[in-house]
Amino acid sequence: MPMFTKKEITDILKDNTQNTELFRLADRIRQENVGDEIHLRGLIEFSNICHCTCKYCGLRVANKNIERYRLAPDDIILCAKNAVNAGYKTIVLQSGEDIFYSKDIMCKIISEIKNLDVALTLSIGERSFKDYKAFKAAGADRYLLRIETTDTNLYKKMHPNMDFKNRLNCLYNLKELGYETGCGSLIGLPDQTLESIACDILFFKELNADMIGIGPFIAHPDTPLIGTKNGDFTLALKAMAITRIMLKNINIPATTAMETLKPNGRTIALQSGANVIMPNVTTKECRKKYEIYPGKATPDEDVREYRNSLEEKIKSIGRMVSKGHGFRGQ
Ligand code: 5AD
Repeated sequence: MPMFTKKEITDILKDNTQNTELFRLADRIRQENVGDEIHLRGLIEFSNICHCTCKYCGLRVANKNIERYRLAPDDIILCAKNAVNAGYKTIVLQSGEDIFYSKDIMCKIISEIKNLDVALTLSIGERSFKDYKAFKAAGADRYLLRIETTDTNLYKKMHPNMDFKNRLNCLYNLKELGYETGCGSLIGLPDQTLESIACDILFFKELNADMIGIGPFIAHPDTPLIGTKNGDFTLALKAMAITRIMLKNINIPATTAMETLKPNGRTIALQSGANVIMPNVTTKECRKKYEIYPGKATPDEDVREYRNSLEEKIKSIGRMVSKGHGFRGQ
C-alpha cells in the first residue's frame, strides 16, 4: 500500500484530474481496515469560555459578540445520560480552554460518566502532564487535540501567545499516557500551502494518531480573519482521503465543518474514507452558542430523534451504525 512522500502528497493535492479515483481508493481502504460500521460519538460542548486567542475561532477570548455559557458538572452528566439512553457508546466532552474545570472537577465528571459504561473522549485543549494523567486515571479513554497546522510560521501567526512546541508536547504526553490520541488540521487557513498540508499528513503518520479530524476553515465575522476566503471542501476531502490511505485503520470523522460548507458534505466524506460521525448531544439552547465558525450545521431535533434520522441516512448509503465502543481497529 502506498506510503507517500511529501512531494507525492503535494502532487495529489495539486492535481484534480484523479479525485474520483482517490476517493474510491480511500473508501476501499476504509472498508478493508475498519469495515462498514459507522461509530456515532455523542458530542457535549459544555463550555464556550476560552482563554485562547486563535485567530480563526469564534470562541477566542477577544470576541465580545458571543453569549458565553458554562454547564454545571451535574448538567454535563445529565447530557451524557441522555445520550447514553439514546444509544451512544462514546461520549465526547469538548469545551474552550476554560480554567473553571479544574483537574478535580474534570475527574469527578469523568468518573461519573464512566459509570455509564461508555468510552469517553476529552477535547479540552492544552493541559499539564499531571492533569492528563489524572484524567486518564479517572477513566478517560481518548483525547482530541488538533495540531491545526504543522507550518510553524503559520502556527505562530494564527495563535498569538501560544507555543507550537507545547502543543506537540501535549500530543506526545497523551500518547505516552496511553490515550487513543486524536489530531488533525484546518484546511484553507490564509497563506497555508499545499506543501504544509502534506507535512500535516506526514506528521499524523509519525505521531501514529488514532483519530484524525480534518475540516475546512470557515471565516468567522467576529474574528481577525473576517472577510478571508473559506477553505475548499474538495481540498479538505482530499487531505482526509490521503490520511485514510496512509494511516489505514484509524478512526476518521466526517466533520461538521464539511457538512457546513457543503450540503451532504458529511455523507460524501463517509464515502471518501471517513467512518465516524460526532452528533451534537448538548442541550438545545447551548448548541447554537458554541459558534466556532458561522453557520455550523447543528441538529434541531432532540437527541433521540436526531440519532434515528442519522441511522436512516447511514442505512441509505449501505452502511450500519456500530454497537461497540469503536476503539481503533475494531
Ligand atoms: N473554521 C473551521 N474550523 C474551526 N475550528 C476552529 N475555528 C474554526 C473555523 N473558523 C476547529 C479547530 C478546532 C476544532 C474544535 O474546531 O480545528 O480544533
